Amino acid sequence: MSNEITAVGLDIGTSKVRCVIGEPSPDGKLNILGSGEADSKGLRRGVVTAAEAVAESIRKAVTEAERVSGVEIDTATVNLSGEHFRGENKVGVVAVAGVDKEITQDDVDRATDSASALPLQPGWEIVDRLPQEYIVDGQDGIIEPIGMTGSRLEARVHVVISPSAGRQNLVKAISRADLDVEQTILEPLAAAESTLTDDDREYGCVVLNIGAEITGLTVFSRGAVKHMAVFPFGSTHFTTDLAAGLRVSIPQANKIKHDYGCVASFLLSDDERMETIEIMPVGRTESRGLSKELLCDIMQPRAVELLQHIAREVRSTEARIPSGVIMTGGGALTRGICEIAEQIFDAPTRIGFLENEYFTGLMDGVQSPDWAVAAGLAQYSMRSQIRGHKYGGTSPVRAVTDWMRGIRDKFR
Ligand SMILES: Nc1ncnc2c1ncn2[C@@H]1O[C@H](COP(=O)(O)OP(=O)(O)OP(=O)(O)O)[C@@H](O)[C@H]1O
Ligand SMILES: [Mg+2]
Repeated sequence: MSNEITAVGLDIGTSKVRCVIGEPSPDGKLNILGSGEADSKGLRRGVVTAAEAVAESIRKAVTEAERVSGVEIDTATVNLSGEHFRGENKVGVVAVAGVDKEITQDDVDRATDSASALPLQPGWEIVDRLPQEYIVDGQDGIIEPIGMTGSRLEARVHVVISPSAGRQNLVKAISRADLDVEQTILEPLAAAESTLTDDDREYGCVVLNIGAEITGLTVFSRGAVKHMAVFPFGSTHFTTDLAAGLRVSIPQANKIKHDYGCVASFLLSDDERMETIEIMPVGRTESRGLSKELLCDIMQPRAVELLQHIAREVRSTEARIPSGVIMTGGGALTRGICEIAEQIFDAPTRIGFLENEYFTGLMDGVQSPDWAVAAGLAQYSMRSQIRGHKYGGTSPVRAVTDWMRGIRDKFR
């Protein structure tokens, strides 16, 4: 079966487009065959603003991944991104229909539909409905209600809505690059997919995907998504702060951030505080020295401000997060961000690397938090194809098993 399936994750970000190609390994992991990355053009805060430029970036990343893997692709699972997503927890209640009161998929569908019957503004759509739990005759915490007996079925669902133009323009840009979209997955979910363990989800945790211009937040509790949000800020804020504060160009500010940036002054040794780096202010002909302490003084308050804003939102959900905060995206590579987040969230904090129990193969280039989304998308791609192959028949038993697998995947 393995060679019938080619799993492809395509992460179209504001700063980079990344593509991961893989196949199922015999032990159920995703065997990464190749990956490719290209600078991204034509997006603003995760949303397509110039389709041809985006298509060109996609072509470059895909060509590179195809070259490394030796596999040609024509379809991909893609991230859905943007700052306008809104997630709400909803409840739908229905009476179980059958005379024997055995819950069927139809009952579950009706309960989910009832939970997601939202008044939508024109041009908005529901992009995902994430089941949290089912309650049968008052018994809560049920994950697979089909086949259970009861009279009253309640579905708790996290419903995510967004303007539909974002998804439509994304699909158009991808088709310009001669690819079909296998499925679209919310970016924060894809970041969680590749980096969390089942325990993280079950005990409760927060995933922060800090990209260039947007930051995705997902709060997990009791194995399901309790809250999701996207914030219109990311690591580019540090770059623009440095450019303004030091009077340097954006590319130079970006390089300073990458090479020397730090957002936790307590990590700097006394010697390091005094060390200086040479910078070239715009319009000057002579460089000047900048101490690493001053660099940190510019970046740290911004990191604290952004993380405090997110922490307030997490607190408002009243979720318990004993598994802590997992940070993905390129912004998670900023020196000190994990340490500062640990203080602000008052929870254990770690960088989200690809979980070894889910991945194997050519992992060298992708074992980094900025590849979490592309790798998570490839995982989604693999699992949905495996379901299609195994349970593609028409028998009702298979259909139910397939549905249950789908539910389990959604809860994962
Ligand atoms: N080593 C590093 N130190 C500091 N910042 C870094 C480092 N590596 C990457 N970044 C920053 O991370 C950001 C890119 O992150 P990422 O690739 O996750 O974003 P993206 O997916 O392209 O954008 P978005 O998710 O906002 O659409 C850039 O602002 C980049 O400067
Ligand atoms: Mg991103």
